[in-house]
Amino acid sequence: MAHYHDNPDAVRALVRETEVHKDLFIDEALFDLEMEHVFARTWVYVGHDSQIPNTGDYYTTTIGNQPVVMVRHTDKSVRVLYNRCPHKGTMVAGEVCGNTGKFFRCPYHAWTFKTDGSLLSIPLKKGYENTGLESSEAAQGMARVDHVRNHRGFVFCRLSETGDSFEDFFGDSLSTLDNMADRSPEGRLEVAGGVMRYTHGCNWKMLVDNQTDTCHPMVAHESSAGTAVRVWKEAPEGTPKPMAVELFAPFISPYEFFEGMGIRVWENGHGHTGVSDSIHASYSGIPGYFEAMTAAYGEERANQILGDVRHNTVYFPNIMVKGPIQTLRIFKPLAANRTLVESWTFRLVGAPDLLLERTLMYNRLINAPTSVVGHDDLEMYERAQAGLHARGRDWVNVGRLYDASEVGRRNEVTNGTNEWQMRNQYRAWARYMTEGMTEATATPPTTGQAQPCSHALPQVAS
Ligand code: FES
Ligand SMILES: [Fe+2]
Repeated sequence: MAHYHDNPDAVRALVRETEVHKDLFIDEALFDLEMEHVFARTWVYVGHDSQIPNTGDYYTTTIGNQPVVMVRHTDKSVRVLYNRCPHKGTMVAGEVCGNTGKFFRCPYHAWTFKTDGSLLSIPLKKGYENTGLESSEAAQGMARVDHVRNHRGFVFCRLSETGDSFEDFFGDSLSTLDNMADRSPEGRLEVAGGVMRYTHGCNWKMLVDNQTDTCHPMVAHESSAGTAVRVWKEAPEGTPKPMAVELFAPFISPYEFFEGMGIRVWENGHGHTGVSDSIHASYSGIPGYFEAMTAAYGEERANQILGDVRHNTVYFPNIMVKGPIQTLRIFKPLAANRTLVESWTFRLVGAPDLLLERTLMYNRLINAPTSVVGHDDLEMYERAQAGLHARGRDWVNVGRLYDASEVGRRNEVTNGTNEWQMRNQYRAWARYMTEGMTEATATPPTTGQAQPCSHALPQVAS
């Protein structure tokens, strides 16, 4: 068993040009290091600011294994605090969401904190006279996350003091979030329809990989989407095509369709499928929508926005965004073999309600673990999680259409079944895992470890 802690060479050796080691999915020690490194040094999605429209509104979540609370401060800005009382450690905000008014009140001993985290009051404060409270950590209140950015409503934070700037981390990839917001005639999104939350018995990275895996739909979803399409073909001629059929029929498109739609990668592990075409490209028009878009943007710009029909955009490390259908999925790591999945849906402010109906139907039909499509994927993840423990094979292959010259190349469009984006993610993974490790205390890789992949070495952000 390799020792990965403070051993960057051993960690880098887990990512080869076209293969990644099974420990990435099953090793608990590596999982702990991911929490410490990947989820601290990258910009991780916290939530959407429409979840907290009013002063005092809050939403509790996790960044890796860190409990945090996103809150609308009295000055209307969005703040992110570690959800931990400085007194004895209790999570101050206990509900998933709510309104806390002007301050948080810890449920244990009633210390209170302003919504920027600062300490407001302590009951019977006299008892702390001459105890040095002022200079203690407790007097500093709830710890703030300093690096928080709100991009068109999408709130991200970086826990680590050092690391890439927001702009360097995301680069051109923000164009997917922009396109999703631009699809609103007012350029604004609102979380709507609740959220679907469920746990999967697999590693979080399997879900991320699946988002750009275009060689599985026609196979894994044949029994579900394929059956639905066959049933639809038997419908009497002239039957109007139900919205549901329109949504899942593309899942069993042939390989050629997915090859043709293209894939593009960006720096730092981000990328997307569906550059020139996608499973979302042929939905029927919604009455009144194009007119609203034209009125807001002019016809040329409206066509440009709606013609950008990206399929799945992965934002490293753990979200996936579908602009044309207004969904965002987040894969929250709970353990090496356990992931909390959340599927969020958005209303395009100023657009007809039927668009939201389609979004919600898509979410139920495709993303729910009990849906026509989602359970197929779940079955594959859980089989893989179990299968990876088998002895005799140690590596997972991500080499489809690999080209040795691809490293460092960005923004190119290539065959949509290329696994370039998966390799892009793992190169980023190796970089963020090892960047903060102390090379000085590193020990040589354990005998029998694979040689480090040169491509896993830190990349210079462009
Ligand atoms: S633990 Fe929060 S007030 Fe005591
Ligand atoms: Fe799938």
